[in-house]
Amino acid sequence: MFKIIVNINVTINSMKPLHPTVTLNQLSAEDQKFLYALVENGGPEPHEYKELTAIINNLEDSELEYFRDAIKESLNENTLIGHGYVKPFGYPGDFTLIHNIYRIYVNPDEKYSNWDKFFQDQAGAHAVRNRKDYFLRRCAEVEKLDGEEKRILILGSGPATDVNEYLNNNPDSKIKFDLVDFDQNAINFAKEQNGEFNESIEYFKINVLRFKPYQWYNLIWSAGLFDYFKDKHFVYMISKYYKYLTDGGEFIIGNFSHSNPTRRLMEVLSDWYLVHRSKYDLVRMALEADAKEEQVEVDMEELGVNLFLRIKAA
Ligand SMILES: C[S@@+](CC[C@H](N)C(=O)[O-])C[C@H]1O[C@@H](n2cnc3c(N)ncnc32)[C@H](O)[C@@H]1O
Repeated sequence: MFKIIVNINVTINSMKPLHPTVTLNQLSAEDQKFLYALVENGGPEPHEYKELTAIINNLEDSELEYFRDAIKESLNENTLIGHGYVKPFGYPGDFTLIHNIYRIYVNPDEKYSNWDKFFQDQAGAHAVRNRKDYFLRRCAEVEKLDGEEKRILILGSGPATDVNEYLNNNPDSKIKFDLVDFDQNAINFAKEQNGEFNESIEYFKINVLRFKPYQWYNLIWSAGLFDYFKDKHFVYMISKYYKYLTDGGEFIIGNFSHSNPTRRLMEVLSDWYLVHRSKYDLVRMALEADAKEEQVEVDMEELGVNLFLRIKAA
C-alpha cells in the first residue's frame, strides 16, 4: 500500500515539468476560435487579414502544428495555401501554383475562395506577378537589339506563362527561347500552353546544374530558382552560365529580398522556405564568381520584395 502511494506521487511529480510546456505550445482559445471561424467561412474576409497575419507572424515554430491542425480542413489542394502545403509535385512553388498566381486564380467554391483571395493579396504574390512584368520588359529590350536572331535562355522555366504572355503580345517576335526545367510535368504544361509557339521555343528537361548550352544568349533569365540555392551553388551557377552570354548580353537572376512581408506566411501556411537575400548578398556572390564591379547591378520590382541581380557580359 505504502509503495503504491509513493509510486503515484513520483508519477505526478515527474509529469509536472512537462505540463506547462505542452500548454505553452498550444494556440490560445481565442485564436483557435478565430481560426475555426475562418475555416467555416472559406478563409478570412479582408477586415480579418490583419488579425490573421498578426497570428501567423507571431507563431513560434513549436506552435505550427497546432495552427495547421486548426485550419486543416482548408489546408488541402482546394486552396493555394493548401496546394503549397501538400506539394503534389514534391516541391514548393511548382508550375501550377506559379501559373495560378499569374492568372490571379481564386477557387469559385465558397468553402475555399476567401483563402485564395487572401493569398493573392499577399505582397509575395504581387511580387511574383511584378517579376513577370519585369521579365516582359527585358524581353522587349532584347527584341529591339540589332540582328536577325535573338536568344533567351530560361533556367527553371516552370509553366512558361511569362513566355506565353510575351509571345501572345508579340506574335512577330524574333526571339528564340530555350527553357530548362527538371520537372517533366512542368515541361508538359509549358509545352501545352505554348503549343502555337513551337517554332520559337525549345525545351530541355534536365537539372540546371547539369545542362550544357551549345550556343550564346542575349539574355539568361532565372526567377524563382536561385532562392532555393545555397550560396556556393548560386556562385557556381553564375560562373557556369555567365560564359554563354553574347557580347552585350546579360544574366539576370531573381531572388526574394529580406523585406518580404509574406515570408512567415509562406513558411507557416505552405511549408515554403526560401533563402532570402539582400542586395549586398547578391553583389558579393557575383564578385565571388569573378564578375567585375562595373558589370553588376541590382534592380527590384515595385514592392522591393523581388530583387534582380544583373550581370553584364564583360
Ligand atoms: C518557382 S518555379 C519558377 C518558374 C518560372 N521561372 C517563373 O518565374 O514563372 C521554379 C521552377 O524551377 C524548377 N527547378 C527547381 N530546381 C531546378 C533544377 N535544379 N534544375 C531545373 N529546374 C529546377 C522547378 O521544377 C520549377 O518549375
